[in-house]
Amino acid sequence: MALAERLARRADQVSPFRVMHLLERAKQLEAAGRSIVHLEIGEPDFPTPAPIVAAGQRALAAGHTQYTPARGLPQLRQAIADFYGERFSIDLDPERILLTPGASGGLQLLLMALFDPGEAVLLPEPGYPCNRQLVSLLGGRVHSVAVGPETRYQLQADQVPEERDLRLALVASPANPTGACLEPEGLRQLYERVRAQGMALLVDELYQGLNYETAPHTALACGEAGLYVVNSFSKYFGMTGWRLGWIVAPRDAVPVLDRLAQNLYLAPPTLSQYAALAAFTPETLAILEERRRIFQQRRDFLRSALEKLGFRFPAPPHGAFYLYADVRQLTEDSARFAEELLEQQGVALTPGLDFETRAPERAVRFAYTQDLNTLAEGVARIERFLGG
Ligand SMILES: Cc1ncc(COP(=O)(O)O)c(C=O)c1O
Repeated sequence: MALAERLARRADQVSPFRVMHLLERAKQLEAAGRSIVHLEIGEPDFPTPAPIVAAGQRALAAGHTQYTPARGLPQLRQAIADFYGERFSIDLDPERILLTPGASGGLQLLLMALFDPGEAVLLPEPGYPCNRQLVSLLGGRVHSVAVGPETRYQLQADQVPEERDLRLALVASPANPTGACLEPEGLRQLYERVRAQGMALLVDELYQGLNYETAPHTALACGEAGLYVVNSFSKYFGMTGWRLGWIVAPRDAVPVLDRLAQNLYLAPPTLSQYAALAAFTPETLAILEERRRIFQQRRDFLRSALEKLGFRFPAPPHGAFYLYADVRQLTEDSARFAEELLEQQGVALTPGLDFETRAPERAVRFAYTQDLNTLAEGVARIERFLGG
């Protein structure tokens, strides 16, 4: 009997990231000596800021290698609460914060807590592909709602259907793959609508801080009841490999989430938590703000260079480090386009297939997680590919 036949159906049904196939091919080409411009990678090219690394090294030298409480180090929860106070003028009780293994750990915890098998979760599309898989793994139904340029790729309050089994809506701002941000007023209306229907709202603020047009804001300004925020040290703080994120939950949900965390993973990574204590110092924040400025420069360069080649950006990408391009003027099939571009010119992109089911052939995602020279090289190769 093949191994796959002995595995649970729910596990077997999980789809891989389609971009993995492309990445695999990119690696083969690199191993054969080809130079590849990677515009598919969803993590910052910058290393973790030095003060954070130093704090991690000090923690290791001091022997901080044992479990922390399941909710995380009290002093880090306090530091996060203070950060919300300083940056967003939000008075946040640290008792509402739980540290998690990345935003991924937070999303798993919350999705486990917020619906029962058979119930539905509203997900805007295009969106982060793991959410759909997680909902299905947990026996839930995905109710996807198409969001397009006309709503700046963000879910509007009036798009929330009146469906009895719908337990929660999950949105991200800034979003992957579009870089779209929810405005405070749109977020408030969405929260009110969701609450009026007895649902919860889960807001993934993982790319918070990587905002280029307006100052970052948080959904926590909307209220407490039925509102769950997920965040992470991965992207703005440059700590992807440290696997540390956090949740802010309504007070009455914390004991249940705490019990779930104890049973699922005991505690978030200890060294990473000590390291993250250095994430909110003025020294670190100055480094991060400089990086944000660099990301903005890259976005502006790449967007205008690609527009000259016929890529279209019908909604403004205000945050994260992604550009989601409409490629209808260039191809009828974005997946084939991405494959041929990789084979012929050595540029790797992520096709729309990873993010949406309705019209994936129309889009590709560019990640500007490379320096300006590399981006310029990528653009020159794409121009050659297009016969320019
Ligand atoms: C929208 C979104 N949410 C969550 C995650 C998971 O991030 P983490 O590294 O914090 O687990 C990602 C990763 O790319 C993402 O794009």
